[in-house]
Amino acid sequence: MPVLTIKTDKKTIEVEKNAAIIDVCEHHDTSILFGCRDGACGACMIRVVEHPEHLSKMEEHERDFLETMAAREDERLACQCKVLGDVVVEVSE
Ligand code: FES
Repeated sequence: MPVLTIKTDKKTIEVEKNAAIIDVCEHHDTSILFGCRDGACGACMIRVVEHPEHLSKMEEHERDFLETMAAREDERLACQCKVLGDVVVEVSE
């Protein structure tokens, strides 16, 4: 099973393949915050520290929002990401 590591919380969580990060966070106490849950508020911004290729592909909706926010290349919206393999993320500052 893939492992989602949340560096900010020093947490390593085994998840089902294709698990939505938002669902994982609902069952674990993490510091990733969620607002709209729909890729429209930016509350859940994370930085992907290792293996960005192990997150689900970015949809146009997320890409447009990140562009508007002038986000860094390694930033994603956690509410839009599914875990496909081992990945390390941290809360974006
Ligand atoms: S919770 Fe609003 S963008 Fe993810």
